[in-house]
Amino acid sequence: MIVIGGSASSNLAKDLAQQLNAEYVQAVTKTFPDGETYARIEREALSGEVVIVQNSYPNEKFVELLLLQDAVWGLGAEKVTCVIPYFGYARQDERFNRGEPLSAKVMVEHIQMSADRVVLVDIHNPRIMDWFTKAKVKDVHAAPCVGDFFKEYGVDLVLAPDEGALKRAGWTAEKLGVDWDYLIKTRLSGTRVHMTPKNIDAKDRKVLIVDDIISTGGTIVAATEELKRLGARTVMAACTHGLFVGNALDNLKKHVDKLACANTLESEVSQISVAPEVAKAILD
Ligand code: R5P
Repeated sequence: MIVIGGSASSNLAKDLAQQLNAEYVQAVTKTFPDGETYARIEREALSGEVVIVQNSYPNEKFVELLLLQDAVWGLGAEKVTCVIPYFGYARQDERFNRGEPLSAKVMVEHIQMSADRVVLVDIHNPRIMDWFTKAKVKDVHAAPCVGDFFKEYGVDLVLAPDEGALKRAGWTAEKLGVDWDYLIKTRLSGTRVHMTPKNIDAKDRKVLIVDDIISTGGTIVAATEELKRLGARTVMAACTHGLFVGNALDNLKKHVDKLACANTLESEVSQISVAPEVAKAILD
């Protein structure tokens, strides 16, 4: 097995190759002066199973993924697995308004044209997996890796910022052997969120908030403020996909005592490698 790292996901790809005891090859990529993407795998030939690790976000990385898929088939790969740590357009998983595209399905259809298997990480809506009709698909959870990472931080309560994220909080809390619960979130605007006080005993506790995505940071900031009001001693935050749009990262650092996210998107706080869980899914 050979692991190819695309330019969006080379840290995770290197970790994965190590976990799988596989050879690692970094794809060569560049952007032409007109904005088009160039990609090349510097090998004479490939055989057997090839694993490409590359986000389908932002747009140019999605194009790179499609080009890498074609490049590995062209070199003789016999089976192609695409690991897509952060799946772009997953939040446009419905036609919310008349005339809109079903963007997540468009992405699925293009990717599965040249893959035998696709491995995703904490896909925003599991329904997206049903659209993979030609390639096999698996969704890997980052929660166990998040739990392992926070073992040294003395967490005594794990919270989800809304009820929908409760399962994820539970998986992390089980790794840590602590309680879990959720907050009640109401979205006021794209960046503002209100957390309704709930009967949570946070007093003097070291609380870890876990979410799948941090985008503007509004959710985590509102949850942190509420938990501090409830008397939490320490508030930490973790997520799988740290998008950190605009100045979200700097703003979050002012509010939380510790912030870490998985390495599905690369940033200064992507300290939690999901490679062990991705490797398990590939070998399964
Ligand atoms: C929502 O469905 C997600 O789970 C996150 O809670 C959300 O994307 C976070 O966004 P933001 O950081 O902008 O509050």
